[in-house]
Amino acid sequence: MMKRIAVIGSINMDLSASADRIPRPGESILASSLLYLPGGKGANQAVAAARLGAMVTIFGCVGDDAFGPGMVKNLASEGIDTHEIEILSGTPSGLAMITVAEGDNAITVVPGANACVTKDYIDRHFEKILENEILLIVAEIPHETVDYLIRKIRAAEAGGARCIIFNPAPAYPLSEDLIQLVDYLTPNEHEARIVLSDVLPEVLPDKETPAEELVRRYRGQLIITCGSRGVLCCTEDDQVSGSLLVRQIPSFPVEVVDTTGAGDTFNGALAYALARGLRFTDSLRFANAAAALSCTKKGAQSGMPTLAMVERLLLDT
Ligand code: RIB
Repeated sequence: MMKRIAVIGSINMDLSASADRIPRPGESILASSLLYLPGGKGANQAVAAARLGAMVTIFGCVGDDAFGPGMVKNLASEGIDTHEIEILSGTPSGLAMITVAEGDNAITVVPGANACVTKDYIDRHFEKILENEILLIVAEIPHETVDYLIRKIRAAEAGGARCIIFNPAPAYPLSEDLIQLVDYLTPNEHEARIVLSDVLPEVLPDKETPAEELVRRYRGQLIITCGSRGVLCCTEDDQVSGSLLVRQIPSFPVEVVDTTGAGDTFNGALAYALARGLRFTDSLRFANAAAALSCTKKGAQSGMPTLAMVERLLLDT
């Protein structure tokens, strides 16, 4: 049976400007176009999972400004349960200023109402959060809330019954005991070094330390996304019991228009695949395919694929 997914994270309005290149510090450049698009890492991951057919509830906050109610409507139109979103009066919604150029992007986020996803918010919505089996937590809310939420979930359940996926983006250093409470940690290569900088200080000053070494240390738990090179993880070798295998699950070649939200699509699709009961490495391949497809359109959510689109790509490749 399909498990239910809760996404706890941010909801933003994205101001996405396309330009020839990303400006250097102190520089002004002209953009060729500007789009107002719904985004936010939490909202994006919820949309990615829901569009594939998952049952998703989102937990977060927006303002009662010109963007907030419209963003809630957008999420509801994707079939996402939005009843737990708080619309806060006198608070601006989260906003992201994005420059898209040369197949890459640069993002500055103004948290706005996302900063109001506090411990008190978690307490108010905790019973509803626990109604879900897969919990996708996104770091674009206060760090103390993330810490509180993960510990509260584990304290409330027996034997780690729920699957916690933590996407530590934007990245910050995590403690070892918090890492041990999550099932899957999904940074990109750059984020992985920040996230693990306190727990592996002997490893990380050496910028050359390969990502392979990091996934080996957190086998079965750390999934490092490497853009067009796919993802890295470490699992037991099916053939030789007891020995470890660092796996690179390759990406899928597509015509890239905009990579904004590719990591979010990966996380949402991973949650969907695990909710469906796919095996770990099959889930990663599935999520890679979804993430690749999401890069073929402008904006974070517009390119997120349906299940049929992912299945077609998996069959054709
Ligand atoms: O990951 C992409 C997202 O990051 C954008 O939608 C933007 O809102 C920022 O949160």
